[in-house]
Amino acid sequence: MGILRPVAVVTTLSTILLSILWRATLDLAQETFLQCLLENSLRSHPISAAIYTPQSSSYSSVLESYIRNLRFNETSTPKPFLILTASHESHIQAAVLCAKKQDIQMKVRSGGHDYEGLSYVSTVPFFVLDMFNLRSVDVDIGNETAWVQTGATLGEVYYRIAERSNIHGFPAGVCPTVGVGGHLSGAGYGNMMRKYGVSADNIIDAQFIDANGRLLDRKSMGEELFWAIRGGGGASFGVILAYKIKLVRVPQKVTSFQVERTLEENATDIVDQWQHVADKLPEELFIRLALDVVNSSRSGEKTVRASFISLFLGDSETLLSIMNERFPKLGLSKSDCIETSWVRSVLFWADIPIETKIDVLLDRTPQTLVSLKRKSDYVKEPIPKAGLEGIWKRMIELQVPKMFFNPYGGKMAEIPSTKIPFPHRAGNLWKIQYLANWNESGIEAANHHIGLTRKLYDYMTPFVSRNPREAYLNYRDVDLGTSYNGKPVYSEGRVYGIRYFKGNFDRLVQIKSKVDPSNFFRNEQSIPVLPYQENRDDQ
Ligand SMILES: Cc1cc2nc3c(=O)[nH]c(=O)nc-3n(C[C@H](O)[C@H](O)[C@H](O)COP(=O)(O)OP(=O)(O)OC[C@H]3O[C@@H](n4cnc5c(N)ncnc54)[C@H](O)[C@@H]3O)c2cc1C
Ligand SMILES: *[C@@H]1O[C@H](CO)[C@@H](O)[C@H](O)[C@H]1NC(C)=O
Ligand SMILES: *[C@@H]1O[C@H](CO)[C@@H](O)[C@H](O)[C@H]1NC(C)=O
Ligand SMILES: *[C@@H]1O[C@H](CO)[C@@H](O)[C@H](O)[C@H]1NC(C)=O
Ligand SMILES: *[C@@H]1O[C@H](CO)[C@@H](O)[C@H](O)[C@H]1NC(C)=O
Ligand SMILES: *[C@@H]1O[C@H](CO)[C@@H](O)[C@H](O)[C@H]1NC(C)=O
Repeated sequence: MGILRPVAVVTTLSTILLSILWRATLDLAQETFLQCLLENSLRSHPISAAIYTPQSSSYSSVLESYIRNLRFNETSTPKPFLILTASHESHIQAAVLCAKKQDIQMKVRSGGHDYEGLSYVSTVPFFVLDMFNLRSVDVDIGNETAWVQTGATLGEVYYRIAERSNIHGFPAGVCPTVGVGGHLSGAGYGNMMRKYGVSADNIIDAQFIDANGRLLDRKSMGEELFWAIRGGGGASFGVILAYKIKLVRVPQKVTSFQVERTLEENATDIVDQWQHVADKLPEELFIRLALDVVNSSRSGEKTVRASFISLFLGDSETLLSIMNERFPKLGLSKSDCIETSWVRSVLFWADIPIETKIDVLLDRTPQTLVSLKRKSDYVKEPIPKAGLEGIWKRMIELQVPKMFFNPYGGKMAEIPSTKIPFPHRAGNLWKIQYLANWNESGIEAANHHIGLTRKLYDYMTPFVSRNPREAYLNYRDVDLGTSYNGKPVYSEGRVYGIRYFKGNFDRLVQIKSKVDPSNFFRNEQSIPVLPYQENRDDQ
């Protein structure tokens, strides 16, 4: 004890030496990069004010401002050597040109909601291009369109639309703090998808900075690249500065409800009926099913609670007549129905009291932050009742993970699966989201909760899609495979790529190989370049 074996001493010494050497080269590379940024600064838009290094006093607060999964707010989480809070397109162009020259890993962050923190964490040295200063939303009601910069949140988009019109909206996610950049480039769905498709189905133009630092729009980038950045994930192709979106019509009055039933209240029968109608109801009606474990009315026992959360683009009378005819087992009553404007239904869905002033949608900080894990699945056939009962039993054993079932059908089933890279269309009854949230910090708590989520996911195998087992890109899940060195290899990329994009994966690879052959825009789950191009890099 206390005596180190010679081999250990040598190993330790060389490790220290190596890390000193490594640090020296790294610092030099970082210094060169910083210099390059400053040299590429325009006098009219100095870049220096947008640069934060770990030495800057506000570095930590800038970094933490958009960490939306506290699992990645630990001292052990890898941190960027620099954050660039771009406030002008020239800052993005400088970042791309300088980083590409030195092959430095860049991460682009808009709202920071990536479930695996891929926009602000990396296993290799990296910097963050932060988009939050680029967040203008210009609504053109006459043309029913809007130009939205990617640093905007969904709440800002909804607010700016509602400010101008009470009969327009936009089909996107239910959480107002989600960023436009990741959400729209990765598809983006919400409670109007059965009528209007995903967000990316409603993008009509873009402002985009490519691997050569060029600022392009739809016309100059061409239809192939424009196809890719509507659901293929922005991070594989370039930096999206703004999207032009098509607004959609909403009635002046919409109806929401949330109705809960436990197993003692016949939840199994009601869920069974939901399975057979949810994707076939009129496309104005979206009924999410949330499942979690709660205390039963019988003391000391647990039960499963099924919550039916709905948006209907119409009034409560019409809704009640549809429900009585198509989904009577829920027993929806007039008093369950909440009629509001569309924008107030956004508050309802975000768990914000509906009478709150709507400027709450401009708040960029979520009401609560937790550590979390998410996974996804697609269901193609109703689950037999015995299957449901088995699922309840498993959920009660595991207790932690919840599930959301989000019904498809309607417009989702009509849009061809090749129209944009997002492939999950006809044939899907609903998508499952697995959710685990926890407040404890540290790796042990994380492993515990992630482990439980994987167990529920494993249990669901017989009931969900297979070959491939499909997944939704915006429900980022590194369990599906990664390229750990940050340089996606085609064969590795195909593993997760097929699950996120099915048959569209190969087209994304073709486009990627053409527009970014040196694979500058990459992350742990990006689209790889063709194998030929990988080899060429090595020669
Ligand atoms: C609380 C919460 C609620 C959610 N609700 C929904 C929902 O209702 N519906 C739904 O579909 N999804 C939902 N999501 C998932 C969400 O759509 C994705 O996490 C989305 O990618 C987040 O976008 P972001 O800009 O906030 O994320 P970021 O973490 O900033 O980015 C996500 C990915 O996109 C890349 N990226 C970001 N901006 C750009 C850009 N300007 N150019 C190029 N690449 C970029 C990043 O590098 C990263 O790879 C939710 C997530 C959370 C945390
Ligand atoms: C993130 O971590 C920092 C440093 O430990 C801490 O000060 C901050 O409160 C954390 N953020 C949240 C939202 O918990
Ligand atoms: C539509 O946009 C064009 C170009 O921005 C503008 O000239 C025109 O007035 C707009 N149309 C309406 C009806 O507002
Ligand atoms: C459950 O279903 C049974 C049989 O259909 C019915 O008698 C009972 O009232 C239902 N319970 C609730 C709480 O709806
Ligand atoms: C659930 O029951 C347990 C005891 O069985 C109790 O400690 C806990 O507070 C209950 N939770 C709620 C939300 O009532
Ligand atoms: C985490 O803590 C918050 C605030 O105390 C609480 O409201 C929430 O229920 C907790 N979440 C979990 C998953 O324990």
